[in-house]
Amino acid sequence: MVTITVCVGSSCFLRGASQVIESFRSLIEKEAPGMVELKGSFCMEKCGNGVSVKIGDLIFADLRVEDVESVFREHVLPAVEKKAGCGPHVHH
Ligand code: FES
Repeated sequence: MVTITVCVGSSCFLRGASQVIESFRSLIEKEAPGMVELKGSFCMEKCGNGVSVKIGDLIFADLRVEDVESVFREHVLPAVEKKAGCGPHVHH
């Protein structure tokens, strides 16, 4: 299970944390249902101009709603595939 943690502290909340969560939620439903856990967290002490999000052990600060899809494709889907044990290059 890959975990995405979205900061819902006051700074991130004001900068769109709930839209970021919604956007991740619909991507997960479409692309990797049941494979990703979505959580909220208190302030990650990276308050900035966007929302702080943690994917596994990686922290992304200053994320915007419009960045969610590319982060999801670049960092979440590969992690899901790795955990599922069937990466994109199964054929040799
Ligand atoms: S409120 Fe999100 S990092 Fe501080």
